[in-house]
Amino acid sequence: MTRIVVLPTARAAGDALARFVARALTTSPNLVLGLPTGRTPLLFYDAIARLHEQGRADFRRATTFNLDEFAGLAATDPRSFHAFMKQHLFDRVNLSPVRRHVLNGSARSWQKEIVSFERKLADAGGLDFAILGIGANGHLAFNEPGRSLVARTHRARLSDTTRRANAWAFDGRWRDVPRYALTLGMGSILGARGVLLLATGEHKAGIVARAFAGPITTRVPASLLQAHPNVVIVLDRDAAAKLPVRLRR
Ligand code: PGA
Repeated sequence: MTRIVVLPTARAAGDALARFVARALTTSPNLVLGLPTGRTPLLFYDAIARLHEQGRADFRRATTFNLDEFAGLAATDPRSFHAFMKQHLFDRVNLSPVRRHVLNGSARSWQKEIVSFERKLADAGGLDFAILGIGANGHLAFNEPGRSLVARTHRARLSDTTRRANAWAFDGRWRDVPRYALTLGMGSILGARGVLLLATGEHKAGIVARAFAGPITTRVPASLLQAHPNVVIVLDRDAAAKLPVRLRR
């Protein structure tokens, strides 16, 4: 079942998602979370870091797997998702370094890296919650639209749309954004016991409507979530604007 929750502002949407995750951590301290990067989750990470400071979000026994990483970038590269996570979450909460997993974009063998990541994810029992954003082209993690999708962790070629959308982390120069990334596959995302997707801003309204009110198609990877039994979509009013009224609450 897909539940769509619409909040008045992006900040309220980030807060609502953070409260949901904090509550889930209280009920199940051993939670295994899939974590996104990008501009959208910044408000979520700020909110959950604040809840942590207030003693209301405890990551001590949690395990995390980041959804993706740019190929070729080392963890220490300030443009890497690894560096993003360190800045926005890892340095702000009590998540154990041994239980947080980010694909190594600069691994000598990406083939070995994806096998090892997939094994760690399986050993952890898969994801309890995949926390996701949605690309303007409908991608989830770096599972880009196409004629087919890949189930497991893999190396993906990034579309120019996606490279442009990530230019903000590369001084606005989209051609500097790597052409490839390592990413969790659609099977691992759809295998999560729960999915929490956050989308904000009017630039996401069109794709949100296509993904959740249109047909299920690999051309819009996020539309596959319609077939998942436990999905919560958290939107601000702007991102919800093009959804049919019956789907907005
Ligand atoms: P964004 O990225 O939050 O920067 O829009 C979302 C995504 O690509 O999943």
